[in-house]
Amino acid sequence: MNRKTYISDLRGNVGKEVTLSGWLYNSRSSGKIQFLIIRDGTGLCQCIAEKGKISDELFEELRRLGRESSLTVRGTARKDERSIGGYELAVTGAEIIDSTEDYPITPKSHGIDFLLKHRHLHLRSQRQWCIGKIRHTVIDAIRRFFNDNGFILIDTPIFTAMAGEDTQTLFGVDYFGEPLHLTQTGQLHLESAAMSFGKVYCFGPTFRAEKSKTRRHLTEFWMVEPEVAFIDLEGLLELAENFVSFIVARVLEENKSELEVLGADTATLANIKPPFYRLTYTEAVEILTGERTKEFLAKQLEELKGQKEQTEKRIAGLEEEQKGQIKQWKRDKNAAELIELRSELDEVNTRIENNPKHAKLAAGFQWGKDLGGSDETIISQMHDKPVFVTHYPKEAKAFYMKTDRGNEKVVLNFDLLAPAGFGEIIGGSIREDDYELLAARIKEHDLDIENYRWYLDLRRYGSVPHGGFGLGVERTVAWVTGERHIRQCIAFPRMMDRVYI
Ligand code: 4AD
Ligand code: MG
Repeated sequence: MNRKTYISDLRGNVGKEVTLSGWLYNSRSSGKIQFLIIRDGTGLCQCIAEKGKISDELFEELRRLGRESSLTVRGTARKDERSIGGYELAVTGAEIIDSTEDYPITPKSHGIDFLLKHRHLHLRSQRQWCIGKIRHTVIDAIRRFFNDNGFILIDTPIFTAMAGEDTQTLFGVDYFGEPLHLTQTGQLHLESAAMSFGKVYCFGPTFRAEKSKTRRHLTEFWMVEPEVAFIDLEGLLELAENFVSFIVARVLEENKSELEVLGADTATLANIKPPFYRLTYTEAVEILTGERTKEFLAKQLEELKGQKEQTEKRIAGLEEEQKGQIKQWKRDKNAAELIELRSELDEVNTRIENNPKHAKLAAGFQWGKDLGGSDETIISQMHDKPVFVTHYPKEAKAFYMKTDRGNEKVVLNFDLLAPAGFGEIIGGSIREDDYELLAARIKEHDLDIENYRWYLDLRRYGSVPHGGFGLGVERTVAWVTGERHIRQCIAFPRMMDRVYI
């Protein structure tokens, strides 16, 4: 047997005899020819087995082979534009490694609940595979950006006594009889490291006991946080827009075909370049409560209704087709399309239902509150590039944020909202660097000041203006891939109501 070739390397092996090892992703047969789609982790390849070119026994064995059976296939690689992956294999031989029957995930309809329970297998689906590859690129780009720009990686602890964000969202742990919790942010430790290294970042899992079952919340997610000594708010915004633009550019470069399979909006992604839009919180509130939002949402409702009608028509058409006499592969293809369309319809119906509620929330928005998920969605839908919202009211934000000395009601912070309704992907701020003011904020927030002595020390010994931000990996991947729910953007999601495997 010749050496194994990966599907991703077929390009350099056209005309040669190669051996692929993988799993049977799908197959169809038309009498004397079988089309076997093999996946091997690096891609998909259509392998063509012709009767007479291989033994009758093998031909029959391949014909009966179930989805996700593992096998090795030999054959000659050919270039074929129309073929999935761009190359195909003229089969000359094959060995079945493990023949599978009744693989539980079929191209027929499965609800999201079923798929999440079968995540250990569903990870093999083309969609999850594409998202996984893009997530890999995003993480690689994150590290590359900071490493290439003089940032030092600092690993911050997961067990901690510090609450950086909302104390309501701590996951407590019994640490040898001592109450600790899982980290919500590496920021506070990172501030200490920034006073040694200047520019630092941490990157790791983050835990929030958030009682929200929204599409934007996980209880365990990955966050990257840079922290910089001697920086102001505008400096931070520039860092964030360069960083996000770099990530998007890397994904466009590395994952063209995955983005295409996912149906991502690559034209909009190609436009993600600095400068991003900048709004103050007060301006955002004016937009939300103004005529522009009202009109925008009314128009959106009309569009959604039109979309609903069209989707229903397409579903009815396909259902009608399924009743008739059609080829098995067409039936499977229709079934797969129906799953997509039905979930699209659910989605549109939810949005139609939510539209008036969100309109009401926006119109009645009171200055002083934090922007809610729906408010962020509206602002984000109104823009084709990410939007910075800066200078939030002090009360709505974390204790460590520095107030704007020209207007003590607001803090020097920002949220970055991804466009097209994806909402917040980054939260960041300049940190309070005055000892007395910070101590007062810690007390106001009912935090145990004893835990924060070391943090206050940073304001006693060479305090400097500094700041940073945190970017959520899953939310970023959701935005870039166009996947609405962030649970699809991590291999094994942890949510408030359910942990599957
Ligand atoms: O806005 P957050 O809470 O900011 C911080 O944690 C700061 N300490 C960061 C810093 O300044 N160093 O969270 C930052 C980002 C959010 O914008 C979002 O992308 C993500 O983390 N995030 C979540 N992602 C998934 N599920 C959740 N429950 C998330 N909560 C926050
Ligand atoms: Mg936030």
